[in-house]
Amino acid sequence: MIEIKEVTYSYSGVNALNNINLNISRGEAIALMGPNGSGKSTLLKLLNGIISPDTGVYKFDNEEITHKKLQDSKFSKLFHQRIGFVFQNSDTQLFCADVFDEIAFGPRQMGMNEGEVEKRVNDCLSLLNIQSFKHRPPYHLSGGEKRKVALACVLSLNPEVLILDEPMNGLDPRTQRWLAEFLVSLNKAGKTLITSTHNLELAQEISGRAILFSEEHSIVADRPTVKLLEDIKLLKEVNLVDEYYHRHEGNEHTHFHTHNF
Ligand SMILES: Nc1ncnc2c1ncn2[C@@H]1O[C@H](COP(=O)(O)OP(=O)(O)OP(=O)(O)O)[C@@H](O)[C@H]1O
Ligand SMILES: [Mg+2]
Repeated sequence: MIEIKEVTYSYSGVNALNNINLNISRGEAIALMGPNGSGKSTLLKLLNGIISPDTGVYKFDNEEITHKKLQDSKFSKLFHQRIGFVFQNSDTQLFCADVFDEIAFGPRQMGMNEGEVEKRVNDCLSLLNIQSFKHRPPYHLSGGEKRKVALACVLSLNPEVLILDEPMNGLDPRTQRWLAEFLVSLNKAGKTLITSTHNLELAQEISGRAILFSEEHSIVADRPTVKLLEDIKLLKEVNLVDEYYHRHEGNEHTHFHTHNF
């Protein structure tokens, strides 16, 4: 469904993606891992069409996605209906005066009538158990509450692919647990999930395949998540686990001490 071939990207001279090759099939659950600045968010932005490759090709469902095509509003709307992006920082995603309008924004853009829009919004509010936020301004919600609204906005378009950038950041343990289970249920329902995370336990719980970036902005491993997490030497090399973790690797039961999920 997703094909990335020899993709390179730089932000005005700062290299962020270095010869990336990656194929993702419909229904997969992928974790993107790697140290700070390795290129995870950049790849997610590219998948969502916010940026386009400097060189190489990005194909979605056999069609090349280019900056030029995304300029066409009909193409862009259709593309964004199929692939939804939950930003790391919900503030950049929320801009309406109340939660109802915020979630209704996408469905309205798609040209649905108000009856359908209202049904979609209410379905999403109850799915995320946030009916009580319906008429509150998004900018008055807490960080975790905003994240739920941002997720509802994306789900309101019922996309085939969900892209989440560090979705657990700033969430309390109970909300993290809820979100992890929710993501697993979405994947079971057939959604393709692509999630960037520093959280090793989360990666193990919500993904079957893990892609590991190095500090040189290239992919250094692409394996079943459990297999990648067994390779402590590699995780240490790319700065994903530290000395403290390393000293415990001989333990029969390995725990990810460095993370609180
Ligand atoms: N808007 C930008 N302008 C210039 N450079 C940028 C910009 N955004 C990211 N970069 C650079 O691109 C590289 C990749 O950044 P990216 O945000 O993709 O990393 P990341 O893997 O998501 O890191 P983190 O784990 O900290 O979120 C970094 O060197 C970063 O400094
Ligand atoms: Mg990032």
